[in-house]
Amino acid sequence: MIPRETINQIFETARIEDVVSEFVTLKKRGSNLVGVCPFHKEKTPSFNVNPARNIFKCFGCGKAGDSVRFIMEHEHYSFQEALRYLAKKYGIKIEEHEQTPEELAAQNERERMFNINSFAQKYFYDTMMSTDEGQSVGLAYFHERGFRDAIINKFQLGYCPNNGNAFTEFATKNGYDKDLLIKVGLTGSYEDRLYDRYQGRVIFPIHNLTGKVIGFGGRILTKEKTKAKYVNSPESEIYNKSQTLYGIFFAKNEISRLDNCILVEGYADVLSMHQAGIENVVASSGTSLTTEQIRMISRYTKNITILYDGDAAGIHAALRGTNMILEEGMNVRIVVLPPDDDPDTFVQNNPIEYVTKYLTDNAKDFIGFKTNLLLKDAQNDPIKRASVIKDIVETIAVIPDPIYRATYIKECSRTLEMPEQTLTNEVNKILRAKYRKQLGINTGQDTSYLSYQSFQSYQETQQHQETQDTTPIGYYQEQELVKLLLTHGSETLDIEGKDDDNNDIVYTTTIASLIVDDLKNDGLLFRDPTHKKIFDAFDQGLDADKLPTAQDFTSSEDQDVAVLAANLLSTQYRLDDWRRHRIVVKTEDDVLKQTVITSILRFKDMVIEDRRSALVKELQSCTDPDDQLVILHKMKKLDDIRSRINHDLGIVITK
Ligand code: CTP
Ligand code: MN
Repeated sequence: MIPRETINQIFETARIEDVVSEFVTLKKRGSNLVGVCPFHKEKTPSFNVNPARNIFKCFGCGKAGDSVRFIMEHEHYSFQEALRYLAKKYGIKIEEHEQTPEELAAQNERERMFNINSFAQKYFYDTMMSTDEGQSVGLAYFHERGFRDAIINKFQLGYCPNNGNAFTEFATKNGYDKDLLIKVGLTGSYEDRLYDRYQGRVIFPIHNLTGKVIGFGGRILTKEKTKAKYVNSPESEIYNKSQTLYGIFFAKNEISRLDNCILVEGYADVLSMHQAGIENVVASSGTSLTTEQIRMISRYTKNITILYDGDAAGIHAALRGTNMILEEGMNVRIVVLPPDDDPDTFVQNNPIEYVTKYLTDNAKDFIGFKTNLLLKDAQNDPIKRASVIKDIVETIAVIPDPIYRATYIKECSRTLEMPEQTLTNEVNKILRAKYRKQLGINTGQDTSYLSYQSFQSYQETQQHQETQDTTPIGYYQEQELVKLLLTHGSETLDIEGKDDDNNDIVYTTTIASLIVDDLKNDGLLFRDPTHKKIFDAFDQGLDADKLPTAQDFTSSEDQDVAVLAANLLSTQYRLDDWRRHRIVVKTEDDVLKQTVITSILRFKDMVIEDRRSALVKELQSCTDPDDQLVILHKMKKLDDIRSRINHDLGIVITK
């Protein structure tokens, strides 16, 4: 466990803009920073970082929080893992007492899996560098392939001895659990016997965005056809192949700086490119690109350049899976390498100046590339040409940005020798069909009148109605008060009131006490559990004479509390809004006082309204005259309070 003081120190040291910019490219906007949200798909940046408050918030998807929360969300870490990550980043030493066996057992399984991988990575590296077999087999292999020590060290390559279970034995001797060794795929079991899954292979550790080893690829050194060329880590809590890009940890800064990501296929390609000084390179590791991988790239750049082998299979591969990249709003370029080359051989066998020039000269916009390629195949066959046009039109239709779409249509109209309007019509047809499908509208009906704009506004009203429907009564009124507590809770106000002898007095009170005590006096409670937690914290703070600070909430271990607090803190009050309601703003203090009082009254009004409508229902189903009288009496009482509130509200508003 991390001691409380250390946790506080981490919270105080971690700068949100530092932490976030490791993963998101941020640009300055006013006193804030903005970037493309890493948590949802978007084109225009709505992800905000507020250095003053030390929090982030996405106005698109609503995710919000502080540094710890960001790391938890982004890396799928537990609270403790996120703290450790930040401690490491800022060089904060975590003084931990010796862990007891129970604590060790309780230690988060993910963390233990990371530990095992890190242990294995070091073992493979040491084995390659300092054993005879490692040097003469593993290291020799890498050297032969042209990898120098600098790149071997940087990517932490290694070698697993060709010796049954040497690694597994070493690991279990060092206290690592055999089930977990099996789970992360370092060890295999066969009829009760354990063996090293990577034996006799060179090792490529796979790192996540933060540089932790999440898996391994192990390449065979012989040309044996009976064995797999690569042994890879299985999917686990820490390794998800479709969400991983080989080399991303080493490439992300360059990708962001150069505003372009070069995509290759294999481990060797990444290594050779990096070695040649081209460092904005990652590999999809042999599978076709997934949406998650594209989104990972899109945090750093909107531009992808795909390098394909110059053979027919490579060119064919270029056409597959690319629509998905376009669909994510990325700009895709294609470079086809000379025949018989892959990125690895190409970059190893040519001077770097030649390579960079080749890449620049041969980068073709994807749609243009595809059009030319297909047209060449179709030649003058009219049927084939028609299907090419259909194919291209479908590709253009997946591009989300209408301006880009229009540009491509213009260009393709030239290459396809088709009138622009015809292509536009075809693209629109596809789009309309897609929207209809999304709307769940019966495709048999004629809904061609449904334009894109009307689709959008339809969707917006749908969403709007949904939020209205699902938000519990009084939620916003409660939230208003919670926000006041968070933003101004410990500030004081002078309030005019009466003492016990009915004399006019002016007393000073905190806003927290004004809100909390007033509601408690009337026996009113918040219904939303998260609101209530914050309310209770202030209540206890008032009792203890030590009010909580905003940071206590944004850094709360309770996820709901932390997110809500960050959300509420990142939107400021706009005094203008109050002016519009004819409130005369004299001083800041005045506004605040009015705001607090109005918010309390609004909340009460809502509670009463709610109780009253419950009574009305009760009355409708009540047949006993005595009971009816009781209900009516209750209603009368509520109405009295209500008219008082309305009166007060009126005073506040017109004062
Ligand atoms: N791959 C894999 N399993 C295989 C073959 C390939 O996981 N049996 C993945 C690896 O990530 C590999 C990538 O697909 O890096 C590309 O495959 P390939 O071009 O065959 O491998 P290279 O890494 O280029 O290997 P080499 O150049 O050493 O032959
Ligand atoms: Mn290769």
